[in-house]
Order: sequence, then structure tokens, then C-alpha cells
Amino acid sequence: MSLKIKKGIPLIDQHDKNGMWGGKFGGNFVPETLKKPIEDLEKLFSKLRKDQSFIKERDYYFENYVGTPTPLIKLDNLTDHLGGAQLWAKVVSENPGTAHKVYACIVHCLIAKRAGKRYVCTDTGAGMQGKNLAMVAKKFGLRAKIFMGVRDLVRQKKNVDVMKKYGAEVVPVTSGSQTLVDAVSESMRYWVANCQDVHMVIGSTVGPSIFVKISGYSTSQISRELKVQLIEEFGEIPNKLKLLNCVGGGSSAYGFWSEFIDYDKKHVSLIGVEAGGSKKSKLHAAPLSNNSKLGVLHGAKAYCIQDNDGQIGETESLSSGLDYPSVSPLHCFLKDTGRAEYTSATDEEALNAYKLVSKLENISPSLEPSHAFATAISLAPKLSKDTILCIDSCGHSLKDSDIIKEKLGFYTE
Ligand SMILES: Cc1ncc(COP(=O)(O)O)c(C=O)c1O
Repeated sequence: MSLKIKKGIPLIDQHDKNGMWGGKFGGNFVPETLKKPIEDLEKLFSKLRKDQSFIKERDYYFENYVGTPTPLIKLDNLTDHLGGAQLWAKVVSENPGTAHKVYACIVHCLIAKRAGKRYVCTDTGAGMQGKNLAMVAKKFGLRAKIFMGVRDLVRQKKNVDVMKKYGAEVVPVTSGSQTLVDAVSESMRYWVANCQDVHMVIGSTVGPSIFVKISGYSTSQISRELKVQLIEEFGEIPNKLKLLNCVGGGSSAYGFWSEFIDYDKKHVSLIGVEAGGSKKSKLHAAPLSNNSKLGVLHGAKAYCIQDNDGQIGETESLSSGLDYPSVSPLHCFLKDTGRAEYTSATDEEALNAYKLVSKLENISPSLEPSHAFATAISLAPKLSKDTILCIDSCGHSLKDSDIIKEKLGFYTE
């Protein structure tokens, strides 16, 4: 069966009755005990999406708390330096949470309040999800529990300190590879046992289908803004537009692209950049662009890095936020329909991109978006001057300052 995207319907809503996109990706592969809480959440979310008071409240917080729209800026120096295409950045990191995770955290906390829950829990890798949920939960008077792999606790300590400052409980996860994949598993386990009082937030467009939907619904704000900003800047959507985004689970990429999916790919191309890991290692975190198989992880069917026995494989990336062995069903669908293309950048390429961007421009992307910058930097010189390469600068580098200093010998905020 060939997979097709329907026009005029948000991709998050193009699943079947089993929560699967193209009958192939997504779904709800969860223990029996979670069926009812998931059904309740599906019903509540579908009601709230049509409720004007909910939408008004969401928009109020997006406008007054996040401070939308985040800037769209031309990277003149980088463009001059590279020659070829024009480089632009949507600086999503210019919000109080310094990453795109803030949108879904606000929406989830609003849902948790309406559901009468007093606690929220989540997974985090780079610490951006944990920091944002801690920050937003405090604002809404909710108690937050954040699950984080011990490996990430060490490499993203700066964000851990912020979570604690906001009063969240940070739970170290010692199982498995002690990274994001294990944090998601632990957070889900905790929710299974406590779903009466706790609302679970998943940090990306992954997990059972309702979590994919809520995450994508929330980050879509980014492309709604971008569309308006591009029209303001160019008078129309530029004829040769390429939207580049890093992809871990895929929430920022989906949010950056959602308004543009219906455009012809020759007009607006969508380029996802996964984590290729270190040049010296065979390990990576790039299931869409490098060797993976269809499997089930965290309740959803998607491309997963697996060993020969079908076990979830080990991943490796300098960027904790991209260090995940699977990916959103939305991106699997975008890949198999041919609407989006996926590639990867190595740790070294991401670091070099960070170095060049922070040297020439007044922005300082974290290691995750530095992967997308790396691909943009390699593409720009080969493209015409009327091509617009727009990169989602979805995270600020401060959390990575120790790693960057260690690897490059300097850090520019
Ligand atoms: C700054 C930043 N960018 C990207 C990601 C990857 O997540 P996603 O692919 O869901 O946007 C993360 C995850 O923690 C992040 O912190």
C-alpha cells in the first residue's frame, strides 16, 4: 500500500482508529491498565481542542509567557561567508525556557489542570523538557517529577540545577544506557502506577498516539508564526524554501514544518537532521537516515535502531536531546511518503557548525540545532542566491557550555 498525505488536515489527525499513521506507524501498544487513562486523555483533549476558552488560555500563555512570536532573523554574516543560498534562523530558543519544549509543557499543564491532576511527570534527555516542565508546573501550581538518565544528569547539569531551582523533583534513572530512552521508560512506568493523580507529559512527538498529537499540536505554533513572518519578509512564501530542523523524537521539526506540509516539495522542502554520532564510532542516533527497522518502543510502532535479535540498539550522540533510538511516527510517515528527507550530521560537524555560527552571528545554538546548522552550512554554497535556507534554532547552548569548552577550548554564549 502506498502511503499518502491528505491535504487540508493536520498531519497529527491523519491516523486511523487505532492511532496509526498510514496503518503502519504509531498506535497504542500499552499495558491494559493504561487503556482507560489514555482513552480519558483522548476524550479530554479532543473536547478541549474545540473549546474556545481553552484556546484563549493557550494563546494567552503563548503570547504573554513564551513571548510569541520568536524572532526570524537573516544570518547575513554566515550567508556572506558561505556564498550561495541565504541563511535565516527562527530563534525559537529566545523564550524563557530557551527551547521549543515550552509549548507542549504549557498545553499539558493546562490539560492537567482541567483534568484535576495535581502532579505532572516527564522524561528529559537534554534537560530542556525537564527545565520547561519544572518552570511551567511551578507557574500553574503543579508538582513536577522529572526522570533523567544518570549519564544526562552529568552532561546537562546546568539544566538539572534549574529544574531543582523551580522546585521539581529530579529522579535519576540508572537502568539501561542511562539516557533519554530509559528516562521515557521510567516516566511511563511511574505513570502506569500513579495515573489517578499524575498527568504524564512526554517530551517529544513519541509514545502512545495521544502524546504524539498533543506534542505536535503544541509545537505547531512555531510554523504558524514562521508562515506569517516569511510573508511579512518576502511578500509570499519564497519559491525555493528549505526548512531544516534537527530530529530527535521530532517535536520541534514537526512544529517547524506542520504549516508547510501541504506545499509541493519543490517549493518548500523539509530536511530533518539526525544525530550521526562521533565520526570514530559506528553508533549513532539516526533511525531515519541510517539503518533501522520497524519496531515498537514506548507504545508506538516506528523505525528503531535494533540489534540482530530485534532488541533496541545502543545509540551515541554528543547531544543528549537527539540521543534516542527511535523517532516519531509522524516522521516515519513523512519519510515513507517522500514528503520530508532525512540526513545526519556527526558530533564533529555539529561542533564545527556551533563554532562558525556563534563566531559570525549573535546566536548560540545548542548541540541539537547545531546538527541542522551543519547540514545548512554544507548545502548553502551549492545553492542559488534566491534559495532560502531557514533553520530552527530550537535550543540555546548554555546547557552545553561545559561540553563545548572541553571539545573546542572556548564557549561563546
Ligand atoms: C534544544 C533541543 N532540540 C531538539 C531536541 C530534540 O527533540 P525533538 O526532536 O523532539 O525536537 C531536544 C530534546 O531534548 C532539545 O532539547
